[in-house]
Amino acid sequence: MSKLANEGARKELTEEEVVEEARGRAATKRILEGKKVILVPYMREHVPTYHRWMQDPALLAATASEPLTLDQEYQVHLSWTQDPLKHTFIVLDKQLIRGGFVPGDPHVEAMIGDVNIYMNDPDDLHMAEIEIMIADPKSRQKGLGKESILMMMAFAIQKYEIHTFRAKIGETNTASLNLFRKLGFVDSSYSEVFKEFTLELPASELSIKEPAV
Ligand SMILES: CC(C)(COP(=O)(O)OP(=O)(O)OC[C@H]1O[C@@H](n2cnc3c(N)ncnc32)[C@H](O)[C@@H]1OP(=O)(O)O)[C@@H](O)C(=O)NCCC(=O)NCCS
Repeated sequence: MSKLANEGARKELTEEEVVEEARGRAATKRILEGKKVILVPYMREHVPTYHRWMQDPALLAATASEPLTLDQEYQVHLSWTQDPLKHTFIVLDKQLIRGGFVPGDPHVEAMIGDVNIYMNDPDDLHMAEIEIMIADPKSRQKGLGKESILMMMAFAIQKYEIHTFRAKIGETNTASLNLFRKLGFVDSSYSEVFKEFTLELPASELSIKEPAV
């Protein structure tokens, strides 16, 4: 993380943001450890790296996102931490953690992506849309995305009693389509307008041999 960006962000904190940051730190108790990755809550310290990732046109296209300024990214981070229906974890590659994992430390050096769920169906709050991004190409095709999704789904089933997961994926995103289909997601619809598939997986069909939480 750039020291300048971090300091710049800190001097602007409002009272509301200080409270939110404290809440975020309380949430750092929520850490999920797998074989290859550790999922930690999205903390303020992660924002500059996340923002840098989201300047890449390929990542913006793959995740159907718009480029934001750093200030806007801090606001989005804040809104996500306040939204009880959205749960975001930052994916840490265990091999990149320097000096051993310390709970509560953002471990910015080991950030490789994010995984989130969003209970965005007002008629069914036990249906969750799931998204994954392994931002650094060097970290891809090592099984880190797959492990992160499985851990997130296990967590969501246990904590929020999610019964169905949904993923929306652009028709040209072969990597993501393969990943979700391999996990058992099946196509439920296709949007001509957005050129994307919607895939679904009932939680009952997810076989998690080793609990990830
Ligand atoms: C899609 C993405 C999350 C995959 O993450 P990853 O960590 O590289 O995936 P994994 O190594 O866990 O691979 C799991 C499966 O995904 C599929 N897959 C992953 N990368 C692939 C690629 N480049 N081409 C084809 N299939 C691929 C394979 O089926 C793979 O299983 P296999 O290794 O047994 O063949 C990653 O490429 C990414 O973040 N891309 C940019 C952002 C994005 O597209 N996000 C999804 C938006 S819907």
